[in-house]
Amino acid sequence: MINLTRGVPAPESYALAEFAECFKKAMEEDGAKAMSYVASPGYEPLIHLIADQEKIDVDQVVIGNGSLELLQFLTYTETQPGDCVFVESPSYDRANLLMKRRGLNPIGIPLETDGVDLNVLQDALKKHQPKFFYLIPDFQNPMGVTYSLEKRKTIAELAQKYHFFVVEDSPYRSLRYVGQDLPTLSSFVPPELSVRMTSYSKTLAPGLRMGVMMGNPQIIKRVKTWAGDTYIGPVSPTQALTYQFIKSGYYEPNLKKIKELYAPRLAKALEVLDRELPGAVYPRPEGGFFIGVTLPEGNDMATLIPRAKEAGINITDGRGFYLNPEDGKRFLRIPFCGLKPAEIEEALGQLIPLLVK
Ligand SMILES: Cc1ncc(COP(=O)(O)O)c(C=O)c1O
Repeated sequence: MINLTRGVPAPESYALAEFAECFKKAMEEDGAKAMSYVASPGYEPLIHLIADQEKIDVDQVVIGNGSLELLQFLTYTETQPGDCVFVESPSYDRANLLMKRRGLNPIGIPLETDGVDLNVLQDALKKHQPKFFYLIPDFQNPMGVTYSLEKRKTIAELAQKYHFFVVEDSPYRSLRYVGQDLPTLSSFVPPELSVRMTSYSKTLAPGLRMGVMMGNPQIIKRVKTWAGDTYIGPVSPTQALTYQFIKSGYYEPNLKKIKELYAPRLAKALEVLDRELPGAVYPRPEGGFFIGVTLPEGNDMATLIPRAKEAGINITDGRGFYLNPEDGKRFLRIPFCGLKPAEIEEALGQLIPLLVK
C-alpha cells in the first residue's frame, strides 16, 4: 500500500545520529531534572530559549505534548460549549473535530489562494461574535496556501474592530521551499488578541510530541494551569533533547537539509498534477506538506476511497476538512513530503486513472 494520507515527515528526514548524541548530552548535563516531573509550562531551559528566540517574556510561552493538545486545552480555558468560533474552510480535520467535540459552533470562512475570502469574513462578523478565529496562514493544512501580506493585516484589523482573538497555527511556517517569508499574522495583532502555535513535529520529529503556544500571557497562564491540572507537566526528556539539539547548532542545518529533501517532492507533485489532471483546481504551494486538490465534477470520496484502496493507495477522506462534509466530497489532499519523487509519480500514476477527468 502507498499512503497518501497524513502529513507525516519522511523517515529519512529524522536526524537520528544527532538525536542520539543530544539525548546522551541531555542526560549527562541535566538528566535528573529532565527525568523528574517538569511542571507546566515545560522544561525551563527550553522555555527560556524559545522566549529569547521569539523576543517575548517567558510567561508568554507554554509547551505541550504536541500543539494539537494545546489547541484542545485552549478550547477548554477560553470557550464554553455553544460559543461561536471561526475556522477556515477547509481546515485541519483534527482541529474541526476537537472544536465540535467541545460543543463549539464553528463557522467556516472559505479559503482562497491568498487567504480567506474577506467579503465572507466581514459579512460573517456582522452576524456572529466569534470567540476566536483559528487559522493556518502559512502553507495551510489541507490546502497548502499562504496568506498575502494584505490579508494578514486586514484580519488583524478586524480582530481589533470586532474583538475576537486570533489563534495562529504555524507548524509548517519554517518549511518554505520557494519565495520569501512574510511576517506572522499575529505580529500585526496586539499581544492581548493573539496566540500562536508552533510545533517540532514537522521540523524535527512528531514522536517528540512537542508543541508550543505563545502570546497573550493571561491566556497562556490559563492554558498552563489547565495543562498542569491535567498531567502535571508535559513529557520532559524530549524537551531536554530538543534543547540540546538547538544549543548544539544542529537545528538550522537540519532545517536546510529537510527543505532540500522536500522541495523536489513538491515540484514533482505539481508536475504530475499539471500534466495528468488539467481539470482539477489546486493552488501552487511554496512550502509545507500539502496540496489541496478539488477534483473535477463527478468524483466522490465515498466511492473513490475504496477504489483507491483496491488499487493499493490509501487516501484521506476530503470530507473531514469541511464542517459540512458534503462540501469536501471532491476534495483530495496530497501530502507530498513522506514520499520520494518516484513514489509520488507512482502513487499519482495509480490514483489518477481512477478519477473522473
Ligand atoms: C495545522 C496543524 N496543526 C497542528 C498539527 C499537529 O501538530 P502536533 O504534532 O504538534 O500536535 C498538525 C499536524 O498535522 C497540523 O497540520
